[in-house]
Amino acid sequence: MPHFLNTQDWSRADLDALLALAAHYKRQPLGDALKGRAIALVFFNPSMRTRTSFEVGAFQLGGHAVVLQPGKDAWPIEFDLGTVMDGEAEEHIAEVARVLARYVDLIGVRAFPKFIDWSQDREDRVLKAFAKYSTVPVINMETITHPCQELAHVLALQEHFGTTDLRGKKFVLTWTYHPKPLNTAVANSALTIATRMGMDVTLLCPTSEYILDERYMGWAAQNVAESGGSLQVSHDIESAYAGADVVYAKSWGALPFFGNWEAEKPLRERFRHFIVDEAKMALTNDGVFSHCLPLRRNVKATDGVMDSPRCIAIAEAENRLHVQKAVMTALIRGL
Ligand code: CP
Repeated sequence: MPHFLNTQDWSRADLDALLALAAHYKRQPLGDALKGRAIALVFFNPSMRTRTSFEVGAFQLGGHAVVLQPGKDAWPIEFDLGTVMDGEAEEHIAEVARVLARYVDLIGVRAFPKFIDWSQDREDRVLKAFAKYSTVPVINMETITHPCQELAHVLALQEHFGTTDLRGKKFVLTWTYHPKPLNTAVANSALTIATRMGMDVTLLCPTSEYILDERYMGWAAQNVAESGGSLQVSHDIESAYAGADVVYAKSWGALPFFGNWEAEKPLRERFRHFIVDEAKMALTNDGVFSHCLPLRRNVKATDGVMDSPRCIAIAEAENRLHVQKAVMTALIRGL
């Protein structure tokens, strides 16, 4: 059973084929790959881009999308085995996933961490449980990684640079300030895909506490060994931005403080100056800026950066539509 849970599970050749199919759908939006088919989009967290692009994408391919929000418009779900279900949950994932799979051909899942215990959250239990019990392919719509965002970002870079070969580009993944500790998913994903594509990647973060989980640092190290790229961690803004071709910004919570966020706050507050601004972008190699969105202007990046012609965040957001159509097609028809 093929699922789309992480890009790391997919071969480089298959990722390239997905990106080529996405570029095709961008030129030619309508198709019949999902004719008579349906996808269930299960959201445990809010969304604007993911929900809209999957719904529209399914429609453009002749299919139908059903959105479910467990605990809101669908029954709350239990994930543990052996639980005496006398609490909030009305049904178990063992039934939910198998029943949904009798109605639909694909299941998308968005389930952010609970932000209490990283050792629990890093197991990605909700996504894995859907994949375990579903008899149709499951798509990660952002859990502790965000693989659809990865493909959309790479497609936007390929479009910008006019080539599918991104090797040798200096890619800076920079932490930015945000008043709340956010999910590391997009940062994990950016690190994974940028190294996979053979770019020279700098992870810029304020202190060692903001280095990402060892699983993703490990994937990145493995990727550069295979792709010929490079990976370094920096806490120095000027040298990290110097000569960058790509600046990708994201805020995330420091993993050592997971679940103890009041203790992280004084540390986080010291680094408001990590905001992406025009002065920092001026240090780059006429680099492009992007972000997965949503983005708090003048907190994570300035108006000037967001409104610059060097900002490709809107193109990346558009590409979510095209890459997800490619993923849905691949899971239904194969590549
Ligand atoms: N980037 C992204 O996934 O956006 P949404 O949270 O709006 O879906």
